[in-house]
Amino acid sequence: LDFSMSDQFLGAIDIGTGSTRFIVFDSNGRKVISESEDLTQYFPNPERHEQNPEEYVDKTLSCIDAVIKKSKIPKSQFRGIGITNQRETVIAWNKSTGKPLHHSIIWDDSRTHEICKDMPKHNIDFQAKTGLTISTYFSASKIIWLIKNIPAVKEALLHNNCLFGTVESWMIYNLTHEKRHVTDISNASRTLLMNLQGFWDEDILKALQVPQNALPEIVTCSEVYGHMAKGPLEGIPISGSLGDQQAALLGHKCIDPGSIKNTYGTGAFLLMSTGNSIIQSKSGLLTTVYGQFSKGKPIHYALEGSVENAGSVIRWAISKLHLCSTVEEFESQASSVTDTEGVVFVPSFSGLFAPHWRPDARGIITGLTQHTTRAHILRAILEGICFRTREVVDSLAEDAGVKLEKLSVDGGMTKNSLFLEMQANILGMKLVVPAERDLTALGTSYAAGIGCGLYKGLDDIQKIPKQPQHEVTYTWDDEKRNKRLEEWRKTIPKTFIN
Ligand code: G3P
Repeated sequence: LDFSMSDQFLGAIDIGTGSTRFIVFDSNGRKVISESEDLTQYFPNPERHEQNPEEYVDKTLSCIDAVIKKSKIPKSQFRGIGITNQRETVIAWNKSTGKPLHHSIIWDDSRTHEICKDMPKHNIDFQAKTGLTISTYFSASKIIWLIKNIPAVKEALLHNNCLFGTVESWMIYNLTHEKRHVTDISNASRTLLMNLQGFWDEDILKALQVPQNALPEIVTCSEVYGHMAKGPLEGIPISGSLGDQQAALLGHKCIDPGSIKNTYGTGAFLLMSTGNSIIQSKSGLLTTVYGQFSKGKPIHYALEGSVENAGSVIRWAISKLHLCSTVEEFESQASSVTDTEGVVFVPSFSGLFAPHWRPDARGIITGLTQHTTRAHILRAILEGICFRTREVVDSLAEDAGVKLEKLSVDGGMTKNSLFLEMQANILGMKLVVPAERDLTALGTSYAAGIGCGLYKGLDDIQKIPKQPQHEVTYTWDDEKRNKRLEEWRKTIPKTFIN
């Protein structure tokens, strides 16, 4: 690698749903090197999705090892490391042994719908307090499920020996000498237990019977939580942490209120910065903490439209249905026809999130005829993801009271040019596509850079030179777009099984 001894670097650990990665950026936000390893997915039944928390630690350390071996960047040139992660996922572990008490329960696991059905009886306005709606998506019901169903968790709680945390909390505990039990405010805001002022909400904890002493301390997104205890970067501070969608928002430098991005990962997540204002959605979106970039600084907020399935549908079509064997083949097959010929696919495997919030929705495919080929189905799958995004963009436009002209996008699926073309057509908007697709990791490297003092604050991030990007425009006329949209809207109620 070409670097000089005066260069300074930031590391980013990015534990998504599909993989864990370690990526190195220079102080101008340019990616230097990255390494990733896939995570094992466990689907014990149609509602459940789990992972092994120890794998997050082992595979992350192995990525760090590989990056340092390949790049030969001396440890002394690293200023800090940031963590970013799949949000809402819950881990319970034993305080004395540090061992997990159960597999992690992943954000899209819907086993807790009965627990959620019971929550309204507490007469708490969850949306006003937390910005979130009652849903299996958030951490609270997963914690309650673990307390009710896992004897080892009950037992550990009885002896004040149980710790709960989201993925960044588990990682900070496991990777550092200090072993603090902390969670950053952006991740904590996804639990349904923290109020928008940044505190564990006493009324909610009491009603849901979640013991505060098992929850981590809420900290900012830019400060030193501890120092690496293992591996070639031992001693380097972990100085930043952000939920992955908030991190991508920062990676796009969407700092000013009104700036928006959409990230296509396992799910797709549209976020708009609302600056330091808490804006409650009237259209089914979430109000979430964007971040707090250093102790004593004001909290930044965002509005979010969460789409439950995006890349997960591509993985499913390849690995479970064997409709094709690679993402490249997916794209070439879907491009071999110009239309889905009436096939509509709604990818609601784990219910429908924003703006519907229907846990009882399941994925469907309609409009099949003798003429339908695999290519039509693959094309309909891509379109389904685009239509779900259209729904959250419409909600955001309604909340913001403006017509949105352009959307910045990132994430794995944005490498697929057919998909981008379809998304632009279905939105009737231009897409701005940065050349750097790892914006989640870039965002947390910015947070870590502030936390370790490499950058003074968000103003310094704004000054980092812009990276190359290109625009994708649309070709459909309004008549075609509206006709297809109508067809899509009619299909949505057919996904509800109750
Ligand atoms: O809220 C869930 C989200 O954080 C998952 O992110 O990148 O795995 O789709 P990703």
